[in-house]
Amino acid sequence: QSLKIGMIPADGIGREVLPGAKAAIQALGSSLPKTEFIDLLAGFEYFTKTGTALPQETVEVLKNECDCALFGAVSSPSRKVVGYSSPIVALRKKMDLYANIRPVSSVAPSPEEKPQVDLVVIRENTECLYVKQETQTVGENGKEARATRLITERASRRVGEMAFKTALARPRKHVTIIHKSNVLSITDGLFRETVRAVPTLPGVNGAYDSVTIAEQLVDSAVYRLFREPHIYDVMVAPNLYGDIISDAAAALVGSLGLVPSINAGDTFVMGEPVHGSAPDIAGQDIANPLAAIRSAALMLRHLGYGDGADRIENAVDEVIREGRYLTPDLGGKSKTSEVVSEVVKRI
Ligand code: NAI
Ligand code: MG
Repeated sequence: QSLKIGMIPADGIGREVLPGAKAAIQALGSSLPKTEFIDLLAGFEYFTKTGTALPQETVEVLKNECDCALFGAVSSPSRKVVGYSSPIVALRKKMDLYANIRPVSSVAPSPEEKPQVDLVVIRENTECLYVKQETQTVGENGKEARATRLITERASRRVGEMAFKTALARPRKHVTIIHKSNVLSITDGLFRETVRAVPTLPGVNGAYDSVTIAEQLVDSAVYRLFREPHIYDVMVAPNLYGDIISDAAAALVGSLGLVPSINAGDTFVMGEPVHGSAPDIAGQDIANPLAAIRSAALMLRHLGYGDGADRIENAVDEVIREGRYLTPDLGGKSKTSEVVSEVVKRI
């Protein structure tokens, strides 16, 4: 048995934090099956050299050879660049990674205490406004731009199932559905109803009876997230709301550089820090590697290596709790590489 991990650092600090994730996995040694890392290309810089942001070979190696993958970050320009589209958005679609799972938790002052914030945002990953069907015409009002927002029953159901499954495995077993169906009653209405109906699906047979369900409009959800984050356990949302909420939740725990995620489908999982390529700090060896390292742990947990994941997560928590080896985003002075070696020591 072996574990083949595709490594896609892509751009900016993606290339600086992914080696930390690799080092943490390697530090687990023989508690994992024989592990092989396969370096793969993608990204905006790769696009500027070759005219494609996601080479076919990368997708094929992921599909045919890898059990899982780790992605760094990509620099997507805000202006429209002809021929370019984000490789991470494309990968989520091509690999059918329909749920983006982002746990956000603060580190408690001691291992016995409870964290102040301990929630998971589960974001639908394949549709909503991110289907990127945009058009622009010229009308009476000057230019008119339109975007299609697609919500399907299938995608809402499977991300809903992921949310209930996740909640069931957590102590509080509570799902909050995020939507705006008071305004968008057809699209968000479909999302809301479909997720709500998950516990009554054929085959579920009461498995989710212990899970409580709440719902919250997206705007007030952000408000309450800042005022009383402890009310949330699992938050499930359409793509755009989930994107925004998970970055907002990251602010509650101090830095984007701490928040990991996985993109999960039925047969593949890809770990990815929530942050982007951070051009403002790239190239200085000061990017926080902990989000990438935690993403590796989440990926391992999803694949069934919970013990290895625990060891990585405990080492990260220890480093944060001790406070001696932190990157500047957390008020410290350490280099990326120093933080990585401190985590590796503790694993
Ligand atoms: P960003 O996440 O790259 O950076 C936001 C702020 O957080 C910056 O001040 C940055 O220095 C800081 N930061 C982020 N990660 C950090 C880390 N690990 N350690 C320390 N500080 C960290 O978001 P921004 O600036 O909006 O976007 C920059 C580029 O990244 C854009 O081209 C954007 O398209 C791309 N991006 C890519 C994502 C992905 O690959 N999934 C996600 C978000 C943005
Ligand atoms: Mg985001």
